[in-house]
Amino acid sequence: MPVRQLYVFDAYGTLFDVHSAVARHAGEIGPQAAALSDLWRTKQLEYTWVRSLSWRYCDFGSLTEQALDYAAARCGGIGTDLRAKLLEAYSRLDAFADVGPTLDALRAQGAKTAILSNGTHAMLETATRSAGLENRLDAILSVDVLRVYKTTPAAYALVGGHFGLPPAEVTFLSSNRWDIAGAAAFGFRCIWVNRMGLPEEYAELAPEAVVRSLDGLLALDLA
Ligand code: LAC
Repeated sequence: MPVRQLYVFDAYGTLFDVHSAVARHAGEIGPQAAALSDLWRTKQLEYTWVRSLSWRYCDFGSLTEQALDYAAARCGGIGTDLRAKLLEAYSRLDAFADVGPTLDALRAQGAKTAILSNGTHAMLETATRSAGLENRLDAILSVDVLRVYKTTPAAYALVGGHFGLPPAEVTFLSSNRWDIAGAAAFGFRCIWVNRMGLPEEYAELAPEAVVRSLDGLLALDLA
């Protein structure tokens, strides 16, 4: 593919496998592990939207804890030791196997790479370092400086503020279709990393391309 100058990645779900925290302790959690992991993620995201729309910001680390507590209560409860282990695991999530090689390939072609995430800067620093990605990114941008979450346009505007590029020169990648909708509305060129094979939605806020994994990005024939 012809290289573009800047690729910006969502973090959670796109670079980092949010289900790897529960997966590490699935034996201790028991048969409810998958349900707990799904609800944890669903509630975490819901809390970002309600907090943003209500102008009651609370940082992503706190929302992650609140969402775990809710999910655990719905799934029969967890002890304080297991709660601590899950939060520790969430701070050092696995990166998907395609992340390192893709960042390296883009950078070898002269492109810049960055994260734009709801996570706090501290969370993103810890996660990128523990996944060995810290030298493969030109910037880590967090909505925490704005105290409002995606999909507000101000969140996507952080990229232009940092790199000095108009939206049409930013290629944005996310596995979260709602994030792609927000980024497309802002004017980014979007690639949906549909890791889970989910159905299409937000028809009028479409990505320019869909890939199943980041490997697919390198094979795309983008203008
Ligand atoms: C992120 C979450 C929402 O912004 O996926 O990284």
